[in-house]
Amino acid sequence: MSRPVDALLDFLRSEEVRGVTHIHLDDQAKELLRELHRRARAPKQAPARATSVSAPVAAIAEEPASSSPVSAAAPPVAAFVPAISAPAAGSAAEKIAALAAQAENWAPARKLGTLRTTMVFSTGSPEADLMLVGEAPGYQEELQREPFVGPAGQKLNDILKAMGLAREQAYISNIVKFRPATPGQTTNNRKPTLEEMASCLSFVRAEVEIVKPHCIVALGGTAAEGLLGLTGSVSAMRGKWYEFNGIPVRVTYHPSYLLRSTSVRDKRAVWEDMMEAMEKLGMPVSDKQRSFFLPKA
Ligand code: URA
Repeated sequence: MSRPVDALLDFLRSEEVRGVTHIHLDDQAKELLRELHRRARAPKQAPARATSVSAPVAAIAEEPASSSPVSAAAPPVAAFVPAISAPAAGSAAEKIAALAAQAENWAPARKLGTLRTTMVFSTGSPEADLMLVGEAPGYQEELQREPFVGPAGQKLNDILKAMGLAREQAYISNIVKFRPATPGQTTNNRKPTLEEMASCLSFVRAEVEIVKPHCIVALGGTAAEGLLGLTGSVSAMRGKWYEFNGIPVRVTYHPSYLLRSTSVRDKRAVWEDMMEAMEKLGMPVSDKQRSFFLPKA
């Protein structure tokens, strides 16, 4: 299995071939390098699912945990994957198609050896004001090569409809462009690791550069960690604005969490997050919409 440092070495070699002799390292990159160095010197431990600077993905609670604090770190190891810049020419749709073509055989993801090989990029309008970011495609998404088409996708469509939007009017993407693999996998899905998210994060940056959404909603704690470097419970991440590449970001529960939850409070929580997004986008919110999932008077 390839290590993040291999992607860094590949990148540095390709820069050297291009004649680049100096690389600027910002503080974040320096800290990540120090961390790699510390890890290389540390005694070998049992293999971890996620080898990252911040907490392992498995530690992220989707459930509303009481008041657990949320902390922010740099999105992990992203600095070790070559940056992708958005193609300079063409319409937004053409640029997204060019990015998707690059993702098909994306070496940093392939080298990990933990992701399947069918690439699932994005769906919806490349000129949308609202961008929704999930974690990774699952069984259904891989089959249909489209994000959010399984049960969680149906729930997401319902949420968009309540906002007055068709699925085609939003831009819907995932941090990881390949379904995370498990041994003997059939229809079961798993969350992506931090390393897997880091391998594809450059695409999300380039997508944001092309789509230029006015607001991003991170769907679930894993997406929030990959995008923003947040750790903690989603309930602690909610209720405030963050920023990704200069675009305001709101964090909410993943639609699949809503599918499992019987709590009207959870539905209302997601709805409040979406109303915040609507206000950010300058969309009108009717009295009827404001009362969704509130107890009847
Ligand atoms: N969950 C995600 O995060 N993304 C999908 O595309 C489907 C389910």
